[in-house]
Amino acid sequence: MKTSTRITVRAADERDWRNLLLLHEVGFGTPYTPEAIDVRRELVGIDRSIIAVDGEAVVGVTMDLPMTVTVPGGVAVGAAGVTGVSVAPSHRRRGILRALYAEQHRRIQASGAVLSVLIASEGGIYGRFGYGPATIESAVTIDRRLAAFHPKTPDPGGVRVVRPADVRTTITAVYDRWQRITPGAQVRPEVLWDRLFADRESDRGGGTTLFAMLHDDGYALYRRVDGEDGMIARIQEMRTVTDRAHAALWRALFGLDLMHGIETTLAPDDPLPQLLTDSRVVRTRSRRDGLWVRIMDVRAALEARTYRSDLDLVLQVDDGFLDAGGRFRLSVRDGHATCTPTDDDPRVVVDLDALGSLYLGAHQARTFAAAHRLWTDTPEALWAVEHAFSSNRGAQVGWPF
Ligand SMILES: CC(C)(COP(=O)(O)OP(=O)(O)OC[C@H]1O[C@@H](n2cnc3c(N)ncnc32)[C@H](O)[C@@H]1OP(=O)(O)O)[C@@H](O)C(=O)NCCC(=O)NCCS
Repeated sequence: MKTSTRITVRAADERDWRNLLLLHEVGFGTPYTPEAIDVRRELVGIDRSIIAVDGEAVVGVTMDLPMTVTVPGGVAVGAAGVTGVSVAPSHRRRGILRALYAEQHRRIQASGAVLSVLIASEGGIYGRFGYGPATIESAVTIDRRLAAFHPKTPDPGGVRVVRPADVRTTITAVYDRWQRITPGAQVRPEVLWDRLFADRESDRGGGTTLFAMLHDDGYALYRRVDGEDGMIARIQEMRTVTDRAHAALWRALFGLDLMHGIETTLAPDDPLPQLLTDSRVVRTRSRRDGLWVRIMDVRAALEARTYRSDLDLVLQVDDGFLDAGGRFRLSVRDGHATCTPTDDDPRVVVDLDALGSLYLGAHQARTFAAAHRLWTDTPEALWAVEHAFSSNRGAQVGWPF
């Protein structure tokens, strides 16, 4: 595909690997370690990379990796994880990303992926391509010395302090259980577990090696970093399958007497603040999006997830980038949907990016209606969509990519 007289978009091959890695390094300002190159090569590979070339020079790249993502209700769907998008600083804002995306998403569509997902470096780029922010996460700091448990917080015990590498199979099994019930969470490839447990210095962000606390139904992996006021336990990953494991692990983490603070990220429905007498001790440093969702196949996506109440209405979805949109009759009975193309008048009209934001249940329809990004013919239709699309479990990203 030609974007201008000089720029050509094509599939990358082995000879392009070094040059496209250089583009990543420059674009993200981070040199790759040899181990990180190996992981990227195994995870994505050259055959799923598309590049833009200007003469001999590689001036743009995008990649994707096959993923399996859980949707509300626990079904796992096939997705493409778009990653490593970078355009040379010498060639910005002349349509190279758009041309790369057009080619890449044509391929993703042909592969039959139900969703395409990404993690965005900047929030203003991807809505035009049909992606909506679909999970929410807050980075929080807790002054451990001020944290006191509420009298009703259970103390279930059952937490063991372990070396992470000694309990790899237990940790991966808990992750798998968590992933199967958590919207947004992806199956984690073995190569990423290898990288996590290898715990190389270049992956430590200035912290110590990993410490681990393990419960039958959860785990917490953390490092010690040095903060301005003292030592901080920085949680790298905490996954719990039951409320008891969640409370037990937090009780154990707050038992780290010499740690001044604890840093972690929380989904909006994480009960941690309510376990404490003073919920304000969980201080939010930032709140941001995580996973962005573009629905590639509206019919398959809407039939894959479950709903919290019945629906029977015509939904018009507008896709300004590709042709995934159209009018669909969405009928939900007992949580399960059938979705069929129709010419009937719509009762709900929404752009594909906003539908992506609603899809995993992390955002509310009324917010998008108030922002004029979702139209319904009556307030009743809005409340019906709002309730049906909500989820009883908060959406989260399983692992960044
Ligand atoms: C982001 C990046 C890939 C954009 O590449 P580009 O070739 O300059 O983008 P294009 O010219 O094709 O722009 C496509 C559209 O996105 C818009 N756009 C591009 N970068 C944008 C930005 N940073 N913020 C908001 N809009 C942006 C353009 O205005 C254009 O809009 P339009 O087609 O609707 O008119 C490039 O700036 C880059 O490599 N950045 C550093 C690495 C990075 O952040 N990668 C993204 C990882 S998630």
